[in-house]
Amino acid sequence: MMFDRSIKIAPSILSADFANFGQEIQAIEAQGADWVHVDVMDGHFVPNLTFGPMAVKAFRPHVKTVMDVHLMISPVDQYIDAYADAGADVLTAHIEAGPHIHRTLQAIRGAGMKAGVALNPGTPAEAVEHLLELTDLICVMTVNPGFGGQKYIDMTAKVRKLRAMIGDRDVHVEIDGGMDVNTAPLMAEAGADVLVAGSAVFRGGSVDTPEVYGENIRNIRAAAEGAA
Ligand code: DX5
Ligand code: ZN
Repeated sequence: MMFDRSIKIAPSILSADFANFGQEIQAIEAQGADWVHVDVMDGHFVPNLTFGPMAVKAFRPHVKTVMDVHLMISPVDQYIDAYADAGADVLTAHIEAGPHIHRTLQAIRGAGMKAGVALNPGTPAEAVEHLLELTDLICVMTVNPGFGGQKYIDMTAKVRKLRAMIGDRDVHVEIDGGMDVNTAPLMAEAGADVLVAGSAVFRGGSVDTPEVYGENIRNIRAAAEGAA
């Protein structure tokens, strides 16, 4: 995985057809997705439940780009090896998920993956100040995690602060929640480079009409690039 700061669109398969993940992943990649965002929820850290390492491992052969796994689970550490084995390229844990995020990030890198740290809307940018050397991606939540299709919560000031803290380090700034043609430009302008979008990518399309996914992806990208 080479580092670059260009705008990357990462569709969240949380909004895909859950009975057809393989074809859905192939369709979004064929239609221009840069990364594939995989939302893991445990019904404990967040009030919703999705899938675990066995499902993620089954997705892997379909993902030709980057498999970006967002863990909304607590605890995290005992599952890190299972997600490495499942083939995650990026593994992101929430800073709010436990008392030892520093150890978690070390363990994720130790298992051979890029290490991401996610921040809920109520968590300040300063929370990652002492983690920057251990981190490859900071995920700024612009909704409270747990569900797709929620209303965007503005985090422009937090993203600007993070970009300044990161400086020239190779750390991605990812935005997750409520990204569409109206909100993506705000985040790109503030300094984000990875834009997760679930409902705004999958809306109106299906594996039988994948060109709709393509149009949605192109529209979000064009809006963001116009602002970056
Ligand atoms: C929310 C998830 C997001 C979600 C985004 O907990 O982490 O990745 O799928 O969905 P939209 O783009 O619909 O807000
Ligand atoms: Zn996510």
